[in-house]
Amino acid sequence: MRYAERVERFAGEGAEAWAIHMEGLTRRARGEDIILLTVGDTDTNTPTGVIQTATDAMLSGDTKYTPIIGFTELRAAVAVRSAAKLGVPIEAERVVITAGAQGALYATAQCLFDPGDEVVAFEPMYVTYEAVVRSTGAELVPTPCPAALNFHPDLKALAARITPKTKAILFATPNNPTGAVLTRFELEAIAELCRKHDLWCISDEVYGDIVYQGEHLSPLSLPGMADRTVVISSLSKSHAMTGWRIGWSIVPDSDFADHLFNLLLCSLYGLPGFSQRAAISALTQNFPELAGMMDTYRDRRRRLSERLDGLPGMACHAPEGGMFLLLDVRGSGLSAQVFAERLLAETGVALLPADAFGASAKGHLRLSLGTTDERLDEAAARIKGFATALARAA
Ligand SMILES: Cc1ncc(COP(=O)(O)O)c(C=O)c1O
Repeated sequence: MRYAERVERFAGEGAEAWAIHMEGLTRRARGEDIILLTVGDTDTNTPTGVIQTATDAMLSGDTKYTPIIGFTELRAAVAVRSAAKLGVPIEAERVVITAGAQGALYATAQCLFDPGDEVVAFEPMYVTYEAVVRSTGAELVPTPCPAALNFHPDLKALAARITPKTKAILFATPNNPTGAVLTRFELEAIAELCRKHDLWCISDEVYGDIVYQGEHLSPLSLPGMADRTVVISSLSKSHAMTGWRIGWSIVPDSDFADHLFNLLLCSLYGLPGFSQRAAISALTQNFPELAGMMDTYRDRRRRLSERLDGLPGMACHAPEGGMFLLLDVRGSGLSAQVFAERLLAETGVALLPADAFGASAKGHLRLSLGTTDERLDEAAARIKGFATALARAA
């Protein structure tokens, strides 16, 4: 039997890097003391009040089909909160609820890209972008955010990648894995390119609430960008709700929302009502646990940087935002892949080689801040032991 050619387009790169994560999982399942700093989940629980809302909703019968693009009340709650945060008016009919930001990226790409189109995306980039873009038949054109620029975009390189086939510019701010938070200057340069070449701007803002340095800005708030920008976001990171699968696209108008409706009608067919009720409470109430989570990330970022920066052969890249820290191991004499393989084999700490996210992150490893302080301290101690032994052997 034959599969569609499309299945090849879903298969992304970076399998080697994820092999380290899988190996860590396998060894942990065997009972070994493995510290997995590979994934972008959080150790913070969803606020109890949010869980209570979902439980109440389920018990009161909210377990049936729901509107395809989300409860009106949820779309309104996203619109109100996003408008306040981004400083621009956003009407509820421009908000389409999806299964996480991932669902929003996928659905948005399906509505915008055709075979032959090119989508210029900042690398390093979130690992699913390539498959999302290529699933439409379009090609992804990476543009560098070099380590030498603190992983901010090389704006000349960006401009040089625009061709008559370019349909959109895609990026995340803050970025995963680098944590770079795009500045107003950079966003204005991107906006100018979008206006000049009539391009869509897709801004993935899932880490927009987690900023340590600088300020989260959206291209949506820049002149002439409201009718060509799609903002992608979710509650996964901001509200410790990765498993609830609540995300959204904010699109320019109801026409775009109608296209998304049609796509979601034949794919997702609506999200669970109790998940959406929980999302409404998350967006409309204040939960002190979440402020605590942000403080915890900030503190872990500082602690890890203090412990890892300046170890033999290593430098620490503390993020401007997001929940990852990059370890620059170019001075160790090992590639990030070999460093990660040996670190796991010899110390039981699993880190992700960041090259999997793009060539600009060559020689770097990604560490998640979503693990308890105690385990992070233990991981830092093991990394220190490894780096010291490596330097001595050299
Ligand atoms: C940059 C970026 N975009 C999108 C996603 C997907 O998030 P969600 O859980 O909302 O689907 C992630 C998840 O790690 C991410 O890092």
